[in-house]
Amino acid sequence: MSVGTLSEAATSNRDLEAFWMPFTANRQFKADPRMLVGANGVHYRSDDDRDILDGTSGLWCCNAGHGYKEIADAVHEQLMSLDYAPSFQMGHPIAFKFAERLKTIAPAGFDHVFFTGSGSESVDTALKIALAYHRARGEGTRTRLIGRERGYHGVGFGGISVGGIVNNRRHFGSLLTGVDHLPHTHNLERNAHSRGQPEWGAHLADDLERIAALHGAETIAAVIVEPVAGSTGVLVPPKGYLQRLREICDRHGILLIFDEVITGFGRLGAPFASQFFGVTPDLFTTAKGLTNGVLPMGAVFAQNQIHDAFMGGPDNTIELFHGYTYSGHPVACAAGLATLEIYERGDLLTRASRLAPLWEEAIHGLKGERNVVDIRNIGLIAGIELAARNGSPGARGYDVFTACYRAGALIRVTGDIVALSPPLTFEEADIEKLVGILGEAIERTE
Ligand SMILES: Cc1ncc(COP(=O)(O)O)c(C=O)c1O
Repeated sequence: MSVGTLSEAATSNRDLEAFWMPFTANRQFKADPRMLVGANGVHYRSDDDRDILDGTSGLWCCNAGHGYKEIADAVHEQLMSLDYAPSFQMGHPIAFKFAERLKTIAPAGFDHVFFTGSGSESVDTALKIALAYHRARGEGTRTRLIGRERGYHGVGFGGISVGGIVNNRRHFGSLLTGVDHLPHTHNLERNAHSRGQPEWGAHLADDLERIAALHGAETIAAVIVEPVAGSTGVLVPPKGYLQRLREICDRHGILLIFDEVITGFGRLGAPFASQFFGVTPDLFTTAKGLTNGVLPMGAVFAQNQIHDAFMGGPDNTIELFHGYTYSGHPVACAAGLATLEIYERGDLLTRASRLAPLWEEAIHGLKGERNVVDIRNIGLIAGIELAARNGSPGARGYDVFTACYRAGALIRVTGDIVALSPPLTFEEADIEKLVGILGEAIERTE
């Protein structure tokens, strides 16, 4: 590459070739790129000098919005004092401090945190802990993992095996063996335009009884679900569904794992979805909002009895043969601690519960716009489902997405479903603006 300024490099199409972009139509994007070059508060800045309202908290991760000096300072200070230290048979204080601090916002009984580098790693970690837990207790027959159709659990082999999105699975071979799936809970006929949790569908959890009868409950290690499925287009759990899943797991000694990578850190109006729904899993995964998205990090929270089951045996035994070079990375921990301060100072972990009625009203105001077939919401999340254009699913969604970007708002689309998850710092005017831009884009899109 010739010597030039960063912005020259970033805007020259020729220089876009090297970065093989994730989950992106690379050729389409590079022919007509959308570049973000700055961020502050609830806005991004585009390379053509426009403010772009962040309707998605980045990628469901910048829960407090953007541009915090406290986080930057904490990261800088940590880099200058201890930039990296291993967590294998060595320790550094800030990782212990961060884990202790996280305990204080977790549901009671989750006093142990395993650090990872991402949501995908958190999922693999939780699945492995579940398998090893049963083995440690002499129930080594429990090797099956149960996911759910339309579930998204990241992109590791564990996550795509229990996940239920066909394009994330079909290209990658036979995946993990011994995996089965619950049915998803989405039903437009019964539940379209539900506000909050839909009335119909709790019985869909009973499919776990069928799976247990089919395979033998003693072969099943764990069930993993997102409390609210995000990436597959915002599927809100029917009333009573998660409770029923918990009951069936209890009846059969199956662990329940909540994947809280998007629901964690205030998205629903409580620190975690388990607190919001009043259903306690055995393990739950997090990432994203853990550091406000500024540095990659994940964490798996384990109930005490899960953790304690590993702590027998001789003192010099490694209890869990698992971990990452970056587990408990000191700089990510510094970002995470500063993030928790910001969440606390602004009451952000519960703020969504106060914004939710306003949010619900605004979002459901889009009912009746052309091609809108469903609107769903919970906490500070919304899904707006559009009818697919004849013969080209996803095309209408993509056109709405690009129209919003041109009009100054970042939304996310999965096929023809718009997903919104703005920063928890959003104000009423931001909600109005976001919904206004989206409504206009939908109205103008064929
Ligand atoms: C529920 C859920 N689990 C796991 C992941 C994967 O996280 P990451 O992309 O950090 O690996 C995501 C990402 O969107 C997610 O929504």
